[in-house]
Amino acid sequence: MLEPRVHTFNMVLCLSRAMDLVSPGLVNHHYRVAYIAHSLATEMGLPPEQRSDLLLAGALHDIGALSLQERLAALAFEADYDSLDPHARLGALLVGGFTPFSGPASLIRHHHLRWDHRREQVPLGSYVLHLADRVAVMTRWNAPILNQVPGILDRVRSEAGRMFSPQLVDVFRGLAERESFWLDMASRSLDSILGELAHLGTMEMDIDQIIDLSLLFSKIIDFRSPFTSTHSRGVAALAEAITELFSFSTSEVQLMKAAGYLHDLGKLAVPSSILDKPGRLTSEEWAVIRTHTYHTFHTLQTIEALRPMSEWAAFHHERIDGRGYPFHVRRKDLPLRSRIMAVADVFTALTEDRPYRKALPSGEVIAILRRMVAEGALDERVVEEVANRYEQLDTARAQAQQSAAWEYRELGEASRAQTALAKETSADM
Ligand SMILES: [Fe+2]
Ligand SMILES: [Fe+2]
Ligand SMILES: [Fe+2]
Repeated sequence: MLEPRVHTFNMVLCLSRAMDLVSPGLVNHHYRVAYIAHSLATEMGLPPEQRSDLLLAGALHDIGALSLQERLAALAFEADYDSLDPHARLGALLVGGFTPFSGPASLIRHHHLRWDHRREQVPLGSYVLHLADRVAVMTRWNAPILNQVPGILDRVRSEAGRMFSPQLVDVFRGLAERESFWLDMASRSLDSILGELAHLGTMEMDIDQIIDLSLLFSKIIDFRSPFTSTHSRGVAALAEAITELFSFSTSEVQLMKAAGYLHDLGKLAVPSSILDKPGRLTSEEWAVIRTHTYHTFHTLQTIEALRPMSEWAAFHHERIDGRGYPFHVRRKDLPLRSRIMAVADVFTALTEDRPYRKALPSGEVIAILRRMVAEGALDERVVEEVANRYEQLDTARAQAQQSAAWEYRELGEASRAQTALAKETSADM
């Protein structure tokens, strides 16, 4: 198998769309901000590198708002800075964890900073992103966009020198004259419009970077709930280690690790109140949960070079007997790596604490896996390999989950420390 090469923008854009699946109120929010920020940057004549940083920052800017409440709060035009700053801070920490994205991370850090509260060290791009975000939150998706332009323009103009830089407001006024700008932003085909812009960039990722970016996304998926905070890391480590026991090439094993990081990507569409629920789920909540692998599949399908991976990632709730969900794929159509992912997922779920029960010991885990084989859910060959190497595999899983737990704590602490610091500095001013 050839090593896949993936266009960075394409992967970011499809992951960014997954973030907006969580609520119909967020229709294309990230795409719209990316488009407006990039348009402003082009209108300003910024160099290509800064334009692409703004496109990426726009596509990822609210990544640190892990709960739906936070996401919706950020949609209020006059939201209070102190309540919005935590998600900007966490977003910058998360995005900055992927080295090639240090530029976008620095823009995300202050994307809610008003112009009249400006600080010296904050890059111009942050103010561009702020304006783009506020314009996006003012647009209503269920009314004709051109009709909304005069109102939006008035509001932006009235904030010149207050919320927004007067120069940026001038740039925006130029942009706002073109109906095409608004029609693009409100278009149902905004994804292909952004895709075209993305093609202008040249950033391509090799397998190591694909893994790193997938790891970044696994954190967004997992850190939304303390109960799942290390789940994808455990699944990825097991998926990699089990795949190594079969005869796959190194790059195939590596891609399987990335698939493990992304297997629950569609959970971004599930509100954290459901993920966090300690008791039994209602049938309505369960109906929401059951959509997650569908979204994982379709999100990953849009990246051509990663198409095979979408099956390994998204078929983890399918069963050998065809009674899984959501595709009801049967034995002959269920790839070995999808079967491995299913075992890795159950294994990890059983060995971690859940809101409704504690982690189980090895004997019980193996017994449950074997029972699931007998019931037609899991693949026998995979489960027997796992049973034979239980210690080795469980160590790999536990180490990966321990380091994820450590990062989860560190990130929480770093984020809290910065809040305290920001409060002190603003008290000094
Ligand atoms: Fe935000
Ligand atoms: Fe936003
Ligand atoms: Fe799942």
